[in-house]
Amino acid sequence: MSISSFLTKKFLKSLFFPAHNRGAALPKKFVKLLKNPPGYWDLPELPEIGSTLCQSGLIANSQREFSEKFGAKGCYFGVNGASGLIQSAIIAMANPGETILMPRNVHISVIKTCAMQNINPIFFDVEFSKETGHYKPITKIWLENVFKKLDFDKNKIVGVILVSPSYHGYAEDLDPLIDICHQKNLPVLVDEAHGSYFLFCKNLNLPKPALSSNADLVVNSLHKSLNGLTQTAILWYKGNRINERNLIKSIDLLQTTSPSSLLLSSCEESIKDWLNKKSLSKYQKRILEAKNIYKKLIEKNIPLIETQDPLKIVLNTSKAGIDGFTADNFFYRNGLIAELPEMMTLTFCLGFADQKDFLNLFEKLWNKLLLNSKKSNSLEVLQSPFELIQAPEIEIGIAWRSETRSIPFSQSLNKISGDIICPYPPGIPLLVPGEKIDIDRFNWINNQSLCNKDLVNFNIRVI
Ligand SMILES: Cc1ncc(COP(=O)(O)O)c(C=O)c1O
Repeated sequence: MSISSFLTKKFLKSLFFPAHNRGAALPKKFVKLLKNPPGYWDLPELPEIGSTLCQSGLIANSQREFSEKFGAKGCYFGVNGASGLIQSAIIAMANPGETILMPRNVHISVIKTCAMQNINPIFFDVEFSKETGHYKPITKIWLENVFKKLDFDKNKIVGVILVSPSYHGYAEDLDPLIDICHQKNLPVLVDEAHGSYFLFCKNLNLPKPALSSNADLVVNSLHKSLNGLTQTAILWYKGNRINERNLIKSIDLLQTTSPSSLLLSSCEESIKDWLNKKSLSKYQKRILEAKNIYKKLIEKNIPLIETQDPLKIVLNTSKAGIDGFTADNFFYRNGLIAELPEMMTLTFCLGFADQKDFLNLFEKLWNKLLLNSKKSNSLEVLQSPFELIQAPEIEIGIAWRSETRSIPFSQSLNKISGDIICPYPPGIPLLVPGEKIDIDRFNWINNQSLCNKDLVNFNIRVI
């Protein structure tokens, strides 16, 4: 089968990213564009359109309008996902040899940039739940303890990254966390890939959007948490801690010289759609419906985990002795396609389309799964093995460039990794270049691999 044939494959229900639910929730104006003859709209950077870094043209106008609307100093559309814009943001924040403080659950794009640019990550641990296998949101007290333990004289820390909300929708109270960083005059990049829509729903008791906090840089994934096409994203910046010139240079450094006009239009329309009163009230209704779906499933004793993002339905399959991968497989075979299987849970993304038919289908399949599957009493996630503050044994950029050999992971105990070991989704590295595979890390990675086919008998490059 070719890729193009697969792209039109029908599923009963698609609850994965992109959040436009296979076109059902694309902005009307964008759908109208797509109805033109195929490819007609695939234009180069003609002067009237310009580009994200031009001072004039339609793209510049839109970016300016959105920045003014949301009180940002500026914003840039991106066509290489939140990943691409996070990478530019990091390069704007730190020079090679400098250090960035970040939580253990950062996205792999952060680690790749550190490796590429010789930027040193210092990780701070994040509370980890053995019950769900998920990292919990950090609190003010947690970050204060981290700051107390940090040696600011030894490490040239130049910035901090926060991730909120997480893939599952756990969100942090950002203001006090950012305050702590700003007291040390450190700029903060908030990876809000999963929370773009919070910006438009301040009346719905959702987490406060990062852009309304004092974050210096915010990156949103418009296909994960708004109704843009895959790869669409936006970066916002505020305040004076980030050098504007550096930011422009780093976006220019990484972005293609031929950005897709279709994707740029999707960036624009996905935001405009939410600024349109009629569409906004439709989406807000969907969010309230999602809250209701959660409530009804809980009333039916289906083991869901509550997060702050109503559009994520996080099923705690382990409560029934079933791992999330087995459940995912079962739902997939029955036409209900989820987003994120993990050992203890399976996460579905409702997206922005009408999901009235989800409830009954989900309940029916869950009951069928309970009847038909083998239950295990031994599903157990090990506690994460990290210290409160930890840096790789060898600088990440050096480890990444070192000569390595590939060996089975089972033989890697006490070796230094030259590799990033990272299940995707969720794209959170278990091990980064330069880190030592000590016994606790070895056991933990083995435990994390238990049900995950991608991590069975894998090889690792060690130094
Ligand atoms: C927390 C987080 N940040 C950033 C990204 C990257 O987003 P994108 O797929 O738009 O590049 C992801 C993707 O999974 C993510 O989970």
